[in-house]
Amino acid sequence: MAADLAVIGLGYVGLPLAQEASRSGLTVLGFDLNPDVVDGLNAGRSHVDDLEDSDVESMLAAGFTATTDAAGIASASTVVVCVPTPLSDEGGPDLRAVISACETIAAHLRPGMLVILESTTYPGTTDEVVRPILERGGLVAGADFHLAFSPERIDPGNPTFGMRNTPKVVGGQTPACTARAAQFYRHFVDTVVEARGTREAETAKLLENTYRHINIALVNEMAMFCHELDIDLWDVIRLASSKPFGFQPFYPGPGVGGHCIPIDPNYLSHNVRARLGYPFRFVELAQEINATMPTYTAQRIQNMLNRDGKAVNGSTVLLLGVTYKQDIADQRESPAVPVARRLMALGADVVFHDPHVATWRVDNGDLERVPDLDAAIAAADITVVLQGHSQYDGEMIAKKAGRVFDTRGITPVSDHVEHL
Ligand SMILES: NC(=O)c1ccc[n+]([C@@H]2O[C@H](COP(=O)([O-])OP(=O)(O)OC[C@H]3O[C@@H](n4cnc5c(N)ncnc54)[C@H](O)[C@@H]3O)[C@@H](O)[C@H]2O)c1
Repeated sequence: MAADLAVIGLGYVGLPLAQEASRSGLTVLGFDLNPDVVDGLNAGRSHVDDLEDSDVESMLAAGFTATTDAAGIASASTVVVCVPTPLSDEGGPDLRAVISACETIAAHLRPGMLVILESTTYPGTTDEVVRPILERGGLVAGADFHLAFSPERIDPGNPTFGMRNTPKVVGGQTPACTARAAQFYRHFVDTVVEARGTREAETAKLLENTYRHINIALVNEMAMFCHELDIDLWDVIRLASSKPFGFQPFYPGPGVGGHCIPIDPNYLSHNVRARLGYPFRFVELAQEINATMPTYTAQRIQNMLNRDGKAVNGSTVLLLGVTYKQDIADQRESPAVPVARRLMALGADVVFHDPHVATWRVDNGDLERVPDLDAAIAAADITVVLQGHSQYDGEMIAKKAGRVFDTRGITPVSDHVEHL
């Protein structure tokens, strides 16, 4: 059966795209290398936070199918690549999934097709990496098929902004490619913003994430010295936020997590250094500051226990919220792991609770969530809020706990409660 759209990579980005396209009436084929993902979806099971099983069932009812067989790609008029772009062991871009996905598409490319890369990557990837692979069979981008880059802006767990009402940036290999890609997204996105080309669209995404990374580092650095100066940074941010223009609040935390903020700015700084030979200093400084936060968090916990005459060694430390983001189950790059690792190395008995995580892997060991939150808070030598999931009642935590170190500012400060 001919597909309007083939989505390559059915994860946090690819699946919501497939859902929205399917809802808008397009026939969608999903291709993924992972048979468990494909079998799960075809059986009506969602593996990402933003989609329920019932959403997948609705997609299937609307004609969506998932497959590990690339042959179906040839039947699609548009192909969108949503595969991971992690860091290599050396800290540089790892484009292996993008390259492999493009090789798969190249084997099934037909004249007139529109190919769009959505994976976050460094400027030049679409033109210098994707285009040559797709052109291997003799078809030329901009002449025989259309090629564009469109960064994904999905914000997992965001109840207000989803795919339809988040403006979509699109940059094509040629103006005609941009126009064709914009026309495609207008099927299911309210506002499409056209870029001058692929490089501008690629860089816009990196600017967005680098902006967050740097501003989080700014407040993290301030959190450290405000504590020394006995200034309540949370109150400072609340006050500054009352300015209706020129200020956007960012909040400190135990470190940055997820697969975007700790990773994407590296794509830009690595590229600047590789091409131009000089550092992107803002990014490097932000990385340095954000990377110290888990150790700093562990140190503050140690200091609080010390004030009670307790050593970390032998103390029970209850960590609340171990995912990288509020109200979602995604644990990738969560700073909770280095915090726990540090505390365990000091001899703490680390226990945890997270409404979204039943079993938590820290390095090679699995921890089971405490069965009774209230009892665990009462029993712990210190309770540490690492993630402010909305199920957590800050007042209740402060009331029941002996000591609280709160990295998210959800509890009322008092003699036994400190904020980061
Ligand atoms: N998750 C987010 O919030 C988010 C937001 C904006 C941008 N992004 C970017 O989007 C891209 C995808 O991220 P994600 O979070 O959806 O990743 P993910 O790990 O959730 O999903 C990626 C999927 O691609 C599949 N895959 C890997 N290689 C493949 C290949 N060669 N062919 C077919 N399938 C393949 C994997 O099996 C996996 O199911 C990344 O570049 C990421 O930086 C993610």
